Amino acid sequence: MINRRKFIRASAFTGFASLFTKGAWSMDETGTVKGKPVVISTWDAGIRANNAAWEILGNGGRALDAVEKGVMQTESEQNCCVGLGANPDRDGFVTLDACIMDEFSNCGSVAFLERIKHPIAVARRVMEKTPHVMLVGSGAQQFAVAEGFPLEEQKLSPNAQKNYENWLKTSEYKPPAINVENLPVVQKGKQGHGPFAPYKLANGEWNHDTIGMVAMDTNGNFSGSCTTSGAGFKMRGRLGDSPVIGAGLFVDNEVGACTATGQGEDVIRVAGSHSVVELMRQGLSPEVACKKIIERIVKIKGAKAKEIQVAFLAVNKKGQVGAYSIHKGFEYAIRTNEMEKMVKAKSIMD
Ligand code: GLY
Repeated sequence: MINRRKFIRASAFTGFASLFTKGAWSMDETGTVKGKPVVISTWDAGIRANNAAWEILGNGGRALDAVEKGVMQTESEQNCCVGLGANPDRDGFVTLDACIMDEFSNCGSVAFLERIKHPIAVARRVMEKTPHVMLVGSGAQQFAVAEGFPLEEQKLSPNAQKNYENWLKTSEYKPPAINVENLPVVQKGKQGHGPFAPYKLANGEWNHDTIGMVAMDTNGNFSGSCTTSGAGFKMRGRLGDSPVIGAGLFVDNEVGACTATGQGEDVIRVAGSHSVVELMRQGLSPEVACKKIIERIVKIKGAKAKEIQVAFLAVNKKGQVGAYSIHKGFEYAIRTNEMEKMVKAKSIMD
């Protein structure tokens, strides 16, 4: 996990200017990013994920290869909510969900996958080597092993072990408040340490969620990827939006692409990413399209919207980028030929 101070150091190292900007960042007055390619991804882990994607995009490669490689970076890191180092479900097992979609509307997905380091790569194999879109649970694992993916040890990372032990003290089963600003800061190890409680760690680190990435390559083609361990301490077998095409991710090469982060149940009920893309098809900018679907979720949830975080991040065919969240606190990473930076998204609520 990277905090802002570390990010600034990372950016200095790569020689790019780095600034935090309020609202959807735009290169010109129409909000258009000058020049292709462009890659955007959720949260600050997205900086390193974008860098990995850029090794392909920056050399004229295909967006599909870039979005796979990009989020594999995050799957390899110690992150509370992505990859095998993440927090487990309430029975103590890490279960992973991922999906991928390309410019031809090919898509692949895995869900409830255990002991495999790179679920996104398995999702791509499902897309390319089976007649199906989704494989889940032991069947997904069996397919992964048959494809040569090693079966990793069934063991929690030290961080996840600590978080799980803390969570077990109360075993409180509540929806997570993800990266919402203006919440009380709690000490590490004290009550509230886990994604099912609204908190920010005393060291200032956020409690992160899914990594979703969408990219447009030099040919103007889109692809997207999304990977997560889902909500920490979830019920065993629970799936969120991330492996669901149309919810956590959607790509339409004529229009653009969108990915989601936050409480998956509320993304699924509005077919979130697909809905954003359909609004962009009607001519709305990415930011306005994301805002409209966030508003739809807030309307459905009523007073309960205060308790959840959802954010969308989208790019359209013109290269315009936009995002919107329910609560303040969501930010995304963008990389183009000219810059890399973090952008704070606008929100409905403070
Ligand atoms: N957005 C991730 C999840 O709800 O599982």
